[in-house]
Amino acid sequence: MTDPTTHGPRPKLEIDGASKAYGTFLALQECTFSVAQNEIVSIVGPSGCGKTTLLWCMSGLHGLSGGEIRLDGMPIHKPHRDIGLVFQEANLLPWRNLRRNILFPFEVTGEKPDHDWIAHLLDRVGLTGFEDAMPGALSGGMQQRASIVRALSQHPSVLLMDEPFGALDTFTREEMNRLVEEIWLESKTTIVFITHSIEEAVFLSDRVVVLSGRPGTVAAIHDIDLPRPRTAEVMAGKQVFDLMNAIKGGIAGTRAKAAE
Ligand SMILES: Nc1ncnc2c1ncn2[C@@H]1O[C@H](COP(=O)(O)OP(=O)(O)OP(=O)(O)O)[C@@H](O)[C@H]1O
Ligand SMILES: [Mg+2]
Repeated sequence: MTDPTTHGPRPKLEIDGASKAYGTFLALQECTFSVAQNEIVSIVGPSGCGKTTLLWCMSGLHGLSGGEIRLDGMPIHKPHRDIGLVFQEANLLPWRNLRRNILFPFEVTGEKPDHDWIAHLLDRVGLTGFEDAMPGALSGGMQQRASIVRALSQHPSVLLMDEPFGALDTFTREEMNRLVEEIWLESKTTIVFITHSIEEAVFLSDRVVVLSGRPGTVAAIHDIDLPRPRTAEVMAGKQVFDLMNAIKGGIAGTRAKAAE
């Protein structure tokens, strides 16, 4: 499909003048950017600037007050089976073992699970052998890996992730970042990733969108033109240092503006 305005390939996701008000409070104002197929785009910005609000609107869980969000050219009005979601908390049901947590969405939709694909995903994230474990017996990192398997189990073409590793220690977070990159390189899913960590955003992304607050609106979009896989050497290089400083400076600028 081509984009009628650019005659290039149609973006996977189009955020087109998206605004969201909670009562009289305007949380998002006319956000516009697009996410190409197979792209990883991170969203960063000061706390409360509307990142989670935007992601929920992209997932169809929240309606917009203005503008439109499109998936493959079609407006999103409700949750869509082609969009997987991963939250900051793993949100596993504590009374169900890992397998039954992963199968839960299939019970809700009545869809038949692809057991081979789920077994492959469990293997990919290093959880083979833990299928019968209860969530309480798993570490935070393992629970989050299980929630990624759950989100990918229905073959979504888009994965929306809201600070999925914010609660993990630095070492586990780096491990999880490499895992996301590996899964993405393998599956070529389109990913929108919210984070407070500029390093995480630079490591993972093709582009980083900076939201200013409040109301949240797009302040800048940075291209992350680094080779993949992004090795420790690449991440320690001057290009990454400069990119991180530019993004940090942009966020600090939006904070100062919000405080005026
Ligand atoms: N359900 C709601 N009802 C009313 N106001 C809300 C609701 N959800 C969010 N808000 C407000 O909208 C603004 C944006 O919130 P949101 O959670 O999207 O920010 P955020 O950028 O994700 O913040 P953080 O980085 O802390 O997670 C905040 O001022 C918040 O208080
Ligand atoms: Mg949030």
